[in-house]
Amino acid sequence: MNFTNSPLVDTDDLRIFSGNSHPILAKNVCSYLGMPVGQAEVFKFANDNSFVRIMENIRQRDVFIIQPTGAPVNDNLMELLIMIDACKRASAGRITAVIPYYGYGRTDKKDQPRVPITARLVADLLTTAGADRLLTVDLHAGQIQGFFNIPVDELTAMTILADYFKAKEIEDLVVVAVDIGISKRARDVAEYLDCPLAIIEKRRIDNADHSETLNVIGDVEGKVALTFDDEILTGGTTINAGEALMECGVTQVYACATHPVFASRAYDAIDRSDYEEVVVTDTLPLNPEKKQDKVKVLSVASLLGEAISRIHVGQSVGELFSTRSYPEFPNRPA
Ligand code: R5P
Repeated sequence: MNFTNSPLVDTDDLRIFSGNSHPILAKNVCSYLGMPVGQAEVFKFANDNSFVRIMENIRQRDVFIIQPTGAPVNDNLMELLIMIDACKRASAGRITAVIPYYGYGRTDKKDQPRVPITARLVADLLTTAGADRLLTVDLHAGQIQGFFNIPVDELTAMTILADYFKAKEIEDLVVVAVDIGISKRARDVAEYLDCPLAIIEKRRIDNADHSETLNVIGDVEGKVALTFDDEILTGGTTINAGEALMECGVTQVYACATHPVFASRAYDAIDRSDYEEVVVTDTLPLNPEKKQDKVKVLSVASLLGEAISRIHVGQSVGELFSTRSYPEFPNRPA
């Protein structure tokens, strides 16, 4: 595959804007599509109010706004809502919120008395602001799609992560779901890699960011373990899983997860861990000031770029969910 500078699609009616959450990802998506990032001023006044000005004509254009809602979550979310409002008032033809990481996704059910369902509230806010569609990657729970009354395209980074390990040709690999909740998706990875699946029984303690590993279910002794999760926050789940697997006699541990939410302490925890490598994607930016020797980042830029071009011209997005029919970033079809 050769990288060229000619547009992958007719970009006349297509505009892609970025908030301040992850401008490098937006730049890479645009570079994949052979088009510039849209011109916009997105900043805060001295009174902490966010402000947006779209600096080009977007009347009747097909507008995509790329903004993962990682930390600072509330600022990034509010900025996205304001960008959507600005685009709506500038008479955009259609507005797609591109949220590679959907913040508040873990607050998706009323599992204790008197708690919110914030993932639903965020869906309502996005729709009220004027979003016509959502494009996202690996939601914490697929059911969040149903919180929206607008079309939702949920992509998965599973093939990007799995292909990386397929290329390593590791013998005696076992994929390990780090909790029951991720076991269905971990099974897909195991099937894709043609290897067995093990599952870890995990318990969360109250509402604190702590979890404990109870049991490893499945045969892992003497194998190389690849743990799988949708996101890594404190690193607790992944690190506990790695330790339990080493105690069960695995020879090496690797980890992969789509979203590197990475609280500050996660970097050190990963660095000190038994893991050979922790493989994540760039749905969120990493902290460049933190040590990340064991962290490998794979890009979802071509996946998002491909999905945007298909949504723009009305082609199927479905086949991107499970196959790798698009090139690895930064390559794209000549
Ligand atoms: C929880 O259900 C998620 O799938 C992840 O397991 C969780 O977000 C990881 O958090 P941490 O890294 O803090 O254990």
